[in-house]
Order: sequence, then C-alpha cells, then structure tokens
Amino acid sequence: MKILVTGGAGYIGTHTCVELLEAGHEVIVIDNLYNANEQALHNVELITGKKLQFYNGDIADETVLQRIFEEHTIDCCIHFAGLKAVGESVVKPLEYYDNNISGTLCLMRVMGKYQVKNMIFSSSAAVYGNPAFVPITEECPKGICTNPYGWTKSMIEQILMDIYRADPSWNILLLRYFNPIGAHKSGMIGENPNGIPNNLMPYITQVAAGMRDHLGIFGNDYDTPDGTCIRDYIHVMDLARGHVKALEKIQKKDGLAIYNLGTGTGCSVLDVVRNFEQATGVKIAYTFEPRRAGDIAACYCDPSKAERELGWKAECDILEMCADAWKWQQSHPNGFADVQ
Ligand code: NAD
Ligand code: UD1
Repeated sequence: MKILVTGGAGYIGTHTCVELLEAGHEVIVIDNLYNANEQALHNVELITGKKLQFYNGDIADETVLQRIFEEHTIDCCIHFAGLKAVGESVVKPLEYYDNNISGTLCLMRVMGKYQVKNMIFSSSAAVYGNPAFVPITEECPKGICTNPYGWTKSMIEQILMDIYRADPSWNILLLRYFNPIGAHKSGMIGENPNGIPNNLMPYITQVAAGMRDHLGIFGNDYDTPDGTCIRDYIHVMDLARGHVKALEKIQKKDGLAIYNLGTGTGCSVLDVVRNFEQATGVKIAYTFEPRRAGDIAACYCDPSKAERELGWKAECDILEMCADAWKWQQSHPNGFADVQ
C-alpha cells in the first residue's frame, strides 16, 4: 500500500516507517520538523536500504496536502503529527488545540476530497484520565484529562467518530498507545527530547550517561506495591509493528475500531530503574520527590482485543526496552546533532 505518514520524522513515526518499508509498503512522509530532524529519515533509509518520499510541510497547510494527494495515490494515512509535551500544553493550550485539532481537521478535509478514507490515528492512554479500572479495556469509559494535550487526543477521537457516523464509508482505527520507550536495535533512530526530558526513560538514560546527576522519582506513597507509579511500558518497535497490523485491518474495510496498544504488564518506576541497571550494568542514582501534578497511581491495559482482532501482541520485555534505549543514548548523546 502507499501510506501517507504525518509526523513521520518523529520518534514513533520513524520507527513505524522502518516497519512499513520492511513490510513492502511505499511511504510518503509529511513533517514540519518542529520536533524532528530530517537526518532521522535518512537513517530510516539507511536501516532499511529503501527510499521514502519526504515533504517538509505542515498538515494545516491545505496546499501542501493537496500537492501530496495530486502527486500520489494514497491508500491510507497514519496520523502521528501533533504536539505532545504535556507540561507545555498546560502553558500553551491555544497552540496545542490549534496545531493538533485544526491540523487534523485540515487533513481529514483533504483526505475526504481525494476520497482517501482510511485513517489510523495516534491516540493515547491519556483519554482514560484516571481510569475507572485496571487493566484498562477499550470499554473503559473515557475520563477527565488532566491537561490540554490529553484533551486534544480525546477531542480528535470524538471528531473522527462523528465523521465516521456521518459517512460510514470511512475506515478509522483509533490506537491508544500506553508508554512507548526504547529504540531501534541499530541505535540509529530513537527518542530525541529537547532540553530536560519530561518522560521517565530519556531521563534515566541521561542520568546513566552522566548528563544529569540523579533521577527524581515523583512520589513513593502511591497505593502500589512499592509506592511508586505503575505504567505499561511498550517497546517502540512493538508499537511500530502494531501499525503494520492495523493496515491489514484497514484493508478489511470494517469501519471504526479502537485498540489499546500496550503490553498488559504494569511496571513501577522502581521496577524500571532496577531493570535498566540489570540490562546495562549502569547504576542509577535517584531520590524520592513529591508527587507530580496530574500523575495517576496505575495505568496499564488489557491488550487482548488487539491480539484477537489485529493478530498483534507486544513481544519485547522491559529488559530489552532498557537495553535498546541505552544503545541509542550511547550512540547519539546529542540526538541527531551527532555525526552519524
Ligand atoms: P514526536 O514529537 O517525536 O513526533 C511528532 C511529529 O509530528 C514530529 O516530528 C513533529 O515535527 C511533527 N509535527 C507536529 N505538528 C505538526 C504539524 N502541524 N504538521 C506537520 N508535522 C507536525 O512524537 P511521538 O512520540 O513520535 O508521537 C507521535 C504521535 O503519537 C503524537 O501524536 C503523540 O501525541 C502520540 N502519542 C505519543 C506517545 C508517546 O509517549 N510518545 C504516547 C501516546 C500518544
Ligand atoms: C506522560 C503523560 C501522558 C502522555 C505520556 C506519553 C503526564 C501526566 N502524562 O505519561 O499524558 O501520553 O507521557 O508521552 O505527563 N517519572 C519520575 N521521574 C521523572 C519522570 C517520570 O518519577 O523524571 C515517573 C512519573 O511520575 C510516572 C512514570 O515515571 O509515574 C512515567 O512518566 P512519563 O514517562 O512522564 O509518562 P506518563 O506520566 O505515564
């Protein structure tokens, strides 16, 4: 199939492009490089030995989207493009609603105009808010999000559901990711956060590399076995493979469906630290800090619907996730600014 990947130069996008190319799909990427580096796409080509086509543009720019749809017969869009920094979204809500929602509206309009009605959307476990129960199934009601970023995901899901209701010839998959970490085995692509990382794994790898003094663990008084928060960490390559399986599903033209993409295994912050130490042999200094606003005690999924209906299951364990994240950190301490 010919796939338009929005935000394809980013963290999950590049790993998914590798899997798409290796599965024999043709890949067209649109990315405005707001949070990415074009070198990442060159590395995707080096890893796979295959070419993709890149458009440096914004999904809110109808002209560039129309050019893409005129120049290519697209079969399906995988829509990663969006702003994703939770803390920043609290400070800059307008930018987040504008970029994520207006961008998606523009994309959907142009797709509809060119009769390309197959869409796979990057949603998030954030839509469950503080989940009504764990493990979270897709039947779990959506909740109250704790920040504008989460609301953009929840609102875009609603918009896509309404578009489907109005025109059931669309095929739409809403993929709710849990906590993607790790990197491609080659160490040539990975997560490249700007400034001080907000997320756990890039913070740990920077402590391991000596770039930060120690990890602050946010809260050790949660109602969990060791008092630290529990999440469902998933290897980014497993997540990438989930998108290839989602494409097979889209071809069946079954309408709209929602899938949790996680491992189903909850890991506490201390579990991650210990597994990182075991996988790499590097000690992680940490202190306990107060809870972080908006954090919830436990968030992990029941991924069995994806296994039943997509034939997909996460395969990598937490040790492998840690080892691969560390390999990427060591080979690219300054991200894509480093010589390849
Ligand atoms: P990322 O920031 O690495 O990738 C997003 C890409 O989109 C970037 O390359 C950025 O330059 C591009 N982009 C942003 N706005 C754009 C626009 N208007 N036009 C064109 N390009 C634009 O993030 P990621 O971690 O790869 O996440 C990909 C998607 O998955 C996002 O939608 C994110 O919200 C979602 N998601 C991520 C996580 C996570 O933990 N990483 C969890 C759940 C959901
Ligand atoms: C965060 C976002 C979520 C988003 C997801 C993916 C919040 C509240 N949630 O999820 O909306 O979808 O990222 O981008 O920001 N931790 C520490 N010390 C650190 C960093 C993190 O102890 O320096 C802890 C956190 O308290 C949490 C766990 O590690 O318990 C994971 O944190 P993080 O990687 O930021 O992911 P989430 O908070 O689960």
